[in-house]
Amino acid sequence: MKLFIINGPNLNMLGIREPDIYGKLTLKDIESKIKLHCVENHIDVEFYQSNHEGDIVDIIQSAYQKADGIIINPAAYTHTSVAILDALKAVNIDTVEVHLSDVNSREDFRKISYVSSFAKKVISGKGAEGYIEAVDFFVK
Ligand code: DQA
Repeated sequence: MKLFIINGPNLNMLGIREPDIYGKLTLKDIESKIKLHCVENHIDVEFYQSNHEGDIVDIIQSAYQKADGIIINPAAYTHTSVAILDALKAVNIDTVEVHLSDVNSREDFRKISYVSSFAKKVISGKGAEGYIEAVDFFVK
C-alpha cells in the first residue's frame, strides 16, 4: 500500500498561519505524525506540498500506477479548482479529502468543494488527527 499525501497552498505556513484556526503544528510536525502512523501500519508514504495549482495537477498525475491512495488537502484550491478535480478523476485513485478546519462552519465560499464530488471520504475540522483518520480509511 502506497499513499500520496498532498497539501495545497499556504499549508507550508502552518504553525505561523492563523494558529487559532489551523493550530500550532507545522506541516513537518503533521507529516511526522502521519509517517509514524504509516510505519506502524506498514504503509509506504510520500509527502508533497505546493502553492501552485499546476504543480498539484502534476503531482496527482505522477501518482498514476504508483499510488494506491491519495490524501489531499487542496486548501484554497478546494473551492475553485476544476483542474485538480479532473486530475483526480483522470488517475482514478481512491482519494480522501482532508481539511484542518471545519470548512462548513466558516465563510460560505468554503462550503463549496469541487474535490468532494470525487473523494470517497471528506474529513473536516479535526486538525492533524484528520490526516490520521484518512490513513485509517486505507488500512484494511
Ligand atoms: C483548509 C480550508 C480552506 O478553506 C483554506 O483555504 C485552507 C486550509 C483547511 O485545511 O482547513 O487553506 O483546507
